[in-house]
Amino acid sequence: MVVHKMKMGFISIITCMCFLAPIQQAHPPSTTIADLSFKNMGFAIDLYKKISSFHDKNIFFSPLSISTSFAALLLASDGDTHEEMLRGLNLERLAQADQPELIPKLFQLLNENITQNGSLTLDQGMALFMTPQFEVEKVFEDQIKEFFNADIKSVDFGDTKGSINFINEYVKLRTRDKVTEMISTLDPVTKLMLVNTIFFQGAWQLPFNPNFTTSSPFYINSYSVVQVPMMFMEDKFYMMEDFLIGAKGLKLPYEEGVSMLILLPNKGTDYTVIDEEITAAKFLSWIKKLRKTKLEVNIPKFKMEQSYSLHNLLPDMGMASVFSNSANLTKLSKNGGLKVSEVLHKAVIEVDESGTTAAAATTIGITPYSLPRTFTVDRPFFFFIYHEDTNCMLFMGRVIDPTKN
Ligand SMILES: *[C@@H]1O[C@H](CO)[C@@H](O)[C@H](O)[C@H]1NC(C)=O
Ligand SMILES: *[C@@H]1O[C@H](CO)[C@@H](O)[C@H](O)[C@H]1NC(C)=O
Ligand SMILES: *[C@@H]1O[C@H](CO)[C@@H](O)[C@H](O)[C@H]1NC(C)=O
Ligand SMILES: *[C@@H]1O[C@H](CO)[C@@H](O)[C@H](O)[C@H]1NC(C)=O
Repeated sequence: MVVHKMKMGFISIITCMCFLAPIQQAHPPSTTIADLSFKNMGFAIDLYKKISSFHDKNIFFSPLSISTSFAALLLASDGDTHEEMLRGLNLERLAQADQPELIPKLFQLLNENITQNGSLTLDQGMALFMTPQFEVEKVFEDQIKEFFNADIKSVDFGDTKGSINFINEYVKLRTRDKVTEMISTLDPVTKLMLVNTIFFQGAWQLPFNPNFTTSSPFYINSYSVVQVPMMFMEDKFYMMEDFLIGAKGLKLPYEEGVSMLILLPNKGTDYTVIDEEITAAKFLSWIKKLRKTKLEVNIPKFKMEQSYSLHNLLPDMGMASVFSNSANLTKLSKNGGLKVSEVLHKAVIEVDESGTTAAAATTIGITPYSLPRTFTVDRPFFFFIYHEDTNCMLFMGRVIDPTKN
């Protein structure tokens, strides 16, 4: 077997929205960023269930990226469209009529909190691409600069080829070459495009030793088995068991306050049953239940790239108006007749042994008397990558077949 240079796990995500035109400072918030994280998680899980209802394949997306993109769009909307989006995003209860900037401010604080520790590689970037002849409200422009640090760039969408190149180059740069072709087609009547990227590079606190990675079976279901590169480690890990739903959880910490929680349905428990059971409150209860224990863990290496057309999913989740001719985006532009035509979300993840150099001597003196339990991820599982201090869900997904990109 050829041993490649150890790679870092990476994830990059883009949410991109196209708009078509065929048609005061907040008080210090009393609501906390933990409240916002909880609400965002609720929205993410609803979205997950929506995606899951269409297919039984791998799923991967970034709740934080999607919520952030729509939080920017909240600033653009007014009237019924605004109310509907607040409800759809599960942010209705946080909104306060006398503090219109509360929600964007909370997003800003959340993002600052997450990246506080300079060594965490989590880059979120937002850009608004717009045609030169389109007039954007100054207040909106200032707000997305202030709260989302958004770049505003002028693009001639009439030159489709040139615009596609320009936007793809921007995305490529922001995701450090991980997403090279965000868009391949573009409607020449596009007026505006909002692109949000998120890039995460995490090194395991305890890297796996690639020498222990072996080809092992992964049971997709009772009929199909695939061979996967299975990583191995023996150490002390945080683990929990949810007897009610029939699943076990394992926490794999990255450096710098971010962790992955793997939720593995027990043998004989159908993952589609667990699908239904996931809620934000359950997720928090799993995290609370984690206890340190000595374990042998086996986890498949995998990488995948997923794309979602959210404009086809969100209307079903109560957000129809912003995509329709009755969209009220007058805070973005008085020009009128503006609606969101497309929302693309693209996510890439790679999970491997990687970590920092071989530094992490992972072996913990194994006494001959202790019999380690095992945690073997050899069947479909769920994973959640979250920021520990805020419980903010950065990424979530499910792996049915690790060999499918
Ligand atoms: C947008 O909503 C505002 C506030 O409700 C309302 O005053 C305005 O007339 C609406 N504009 C359009 C184009 O619907
Ligand atoms: C981030 O938020 C958490 C939870 O509210 C808080 O405990 C922590 O001190 C914050 N960290 C920073 C660096 O602001
Ligand atoms: C970042 O977090 C790590 C681990 O929690 C800690 O050791 C380090 O001192 C922190 N660095 C900064 C700049 O806060
Ligand atoms: C893996 O095996 C090679 C060859 O035996 C050895 O040189 C290397 O140190 C091992 N790597 C680790 C991380 O143990």
